Amino acid sequence: MRKNILIIALFGLAVPAIGTSEDKIDFAKQIYPFVKSGCVKCHAPPYEDERGRTRKPKAEIILATKEGIMESVDEEGNKILVPGKPDETRMLEVTKLPIDDDYHFPPEGKAPQWTDAEKELFGKWVAAGADFGDWEADPKPQEGLEWDGKEKEAGTVETAE
Ligand code: HEC
Repeated sequence: MRKNILIIALFGLAVPAIGTSEDKIDFAKQIYPFVKSGCVKCHAPPYEDERGRTRKPKAEIILATKEGIMESVDEEGNKILVPGKPDETRMLEVTKLPIDDDYHFPPEGKAPQWTDAEKELFGKWVAAGADFGDWEADPKPQEGLEWDGKEKEAGTVETAE
């Protein structure tokens, strides 16, 4: 009997922590930084490079704007992000495919891989409905993409201050 009471007491403590606004994931601060570093080099809106050539996003997929992330489709014509459904979200799936798979992104050595913690956080954000908050677009998608070629440490999440 006493054991049951203890279990109930512990549950009582745990419940308020689930689903409060403190758990809300902030897209701009917690998600976009690793989307940018890992993906935007190849998936930015069209722009002119320093030689005046127009650079188009790979596969016509734009990951530097809310509209791009919401509306872009994979080669089968399916939306790459399905709010509420991380398992149907190709944008996440491609990061989890074996590194030598043709559809693993980012390609090895071209941009930093998402860490497991980042994949998990992205999945949670999608599961919670993919709320972008006030974020509409990266004003400077070509800036801040320099990379020293070193992968991040496994458990880390790249965030903005
Ligand atoms: C070095 C360039 C590069 C980077 C970095 C990159 N991609 Fe891509 N991505 C491509 C290319 C090229 C294709 C088209 C592949 C094809 O059609 O064979 C593509 C296609 C895709 C597709 C469509 C796959 C399909 O099934 O049709 C998705 C989704 C995608 N990328 C997501 C991402 C995400 C998410 C990131 C970052 C985690 C990322 N990409 C980083 C070059 C890149």
